[in-house]
Amino acid sequence: MPKYKIRDLLASRESLPDVEVNGWVRTKREGKEVTFLEINDGTCLANLQAVFSGEALNLEELKNANTGTAVGVKGRLQPSQGQGQKWELVSDGLFIHGLSEPDYPLQKKRHSDEFLRQIAHLRPRTNKYGAIMRLRSQMAWAVHDFFRSRDFFYVQTPIITGSDCEGGGSVFRVTTLPEGQDAPITEDFFGRWAGLTVSGQLEAELMAMALSRVYTFGPTFRAENSNTARHAAEFWMIEPEAAFFDLHDNMGLAEDMVRFLVDYALKNCLQDLELFDRFVEKGLLERLEKLRSGAYHRLPYVEAVDLLMKSQEDFEIKPFQGCDLASEHEKFLCQSLGGPVTVHDYPKGIKPFYMRLSDDRTTVAAMDVLVPKVGELIGGSQREERLDLLKARLAEQGLSEADYWWYLDIRRWGSAPHSGFGLGFDRFLMLLTGVNNIRDVIPFPRTPKNLEF
Ligand code: 4AD
Ligand code: MG
Repeated sequence: MPKYKIRDLLASRESLPDVEVNGWVRTKREGKEVTFLEINDGTCLANLQAVFSGEALNLEELKNANTGTAVGVKGRLQPSQGQGQKWELVSDGLFIHGLSEPDYPLQKKRHSDEFLRQIAHLRPRTNKYGAIMRLRSQMAWAVHDFFRSRDFFYVQTPIITGSDCEGGGSVFRVTTLPEGQDAPITEDFFGRWAGLTVSGQLEAELMAMALSRVYTFGPTFRAENSNTARHAAEFWMIEPEAAFFDLHDNMGLAEDMVRFLVDYALKNCLQDLELFDRFVEKGLLERLEKLRSGAYHRLPYVEAVDLLMKSQEDFEIKPFQGCDLASEHEKFLCQSLGGPVTVHDYPKGIKPFYMRLSDDRTTVAAMDVLVPKVGELIGGSQREERLDLLKARLAEQGLSEADYWWYLDIRRWGSAPHSGFGLGFDRFLMLLTGVNNIRDVIPFPRTPKNLEF
C-alpha cells in the first residue's frame, strides 16, 4: 500500500482506494456514530480528516489516539461529506507509532509565543511554527536558485576561524584548554587563539579572487550581549562576493535578491504566507507584494541623517552627522520613504577596516539595506583593494598586519575591485512572515542566558 504525504492527498484530483498516511493527531472528535481524527504530517498547513465509523469505531487503537499521538492510518480517500475540506480518509485501519501522554502541552487553543519558546522542541507541531520551518527550507532553496541563476559558485567558508572579520570583539572563543587552569595558549588545540566565525566574508573574498563570483550560506556567531528582538547569538547569513563589482553593482544585486526571494515565496509558499497574513500581520501579503514590485530607494548616508535630523520624530537616540543608525532611525527612514532604503557611503569611523575609502578619504563605500518592520537586513560594501590604503586602515583601527597577512597578500598579487554583502537569513524570515521576534523564526534560538538544547 503506497505511503502518501498529506500535501499530495489534499491536492489529489481523484478518489484513491488504498491509502496509508502517517502523522500526528492534532485533534480527535468522538461521537456515537463517527469519530474524526485530524492528522498533520508537516508537509503542509492543512490537516487530513480521518473518519472512523461502523466497524472501524471499534478499533482498539482509536481509543488511545489522543492529541499528539503518532499514527498511521489506512483507508480510502474520497470527497468529504462534511464542510471545510475537500477530501477525507474513510479509515479502516489505525496503527499507533507512539502514544501521547495526557499532559501533551499543545492543546487546541492559541498558545503565546513566550510559552511556545519554552517548548521549542514541540512548537514545530503548531500551525504557525510548522509554517515558519517550511518557509525556512523553501527560502534556503530559493537562495541557491538565485545565485545559480547569476553564475555564483557556492563556497563553504570555515566556522572555526583565527580572525575577527567585523572587529567588534564579539567573537565566541573556541578552546579545548581545561577549565580553571592557566595553560598557555600554545597548548590550546590550534596552538593559538581561535573563535567561531562572525562572517565568512574575508574567506569569500579570497575565493572571489579566483572564481569571480561566489557566495557562502552558513551559520555565524556573535557574542553580542544585545537582548533585542532582532539579534541572535547564532544566525545564518548569506554572503555573496563578486570580483569586478562596484558598490552600485552590489546594491543592484542586493535589491534583486530580495525581490527574487519575495517573489519565490509568493509563488511557492502562499498557503503558509496566508496564515501569517491572517494571524500575525494583517496586510502582510500586500506588504510583500510591494517588496516584490514596488520601488527600492537609495540614499547617501549624509542625506539620510539630514532627513532624520529635520524630522519631527522624537527619537530616543538623537541623530547627528557621523552617528551610527539606530533601529528607530532605520524604521523611520523606511516608513517615510515607504519601502526599502539602501543607505550608502558612510563615514569611515563607524565602519570596519575592509571597506573601500572614498577619494576624499572621509567616507567608505558601504551600503546597508533597510527594510520596513526589520530595519537593517543587509550590510555590505565595496572592499578596499589597494594594499597601501588597506594597511593604513588596519593601523587606524589598531589591528595587526600579521594577523591578516593572507588578506593583504590578495592585494599584492592580482588585486581587483570587488564587492559583497551579508543578508541575515533569520531577519529575512521576519520580514517575510511579519514575526516580530527573531527567536520565533529560528528552530532553536540562542540568545544571552538561553541555551536549552
Ligand atoms: O552588517 P553585518 O555585521 O555585516 C557583515 O558581517 C559583513 N561582513 C557582511 C558582508 O559584507 N559579507 O551583518 C550582515 C547582516 C545584517 O545586516 C543582519 O541582517 C545580520 O547579518 N545580522 C544578524 N542577524 C541576527 N542576529 C545578529 N546578531 C546579527 N548580526 C547581523
Ligand atoms: Mg551591519
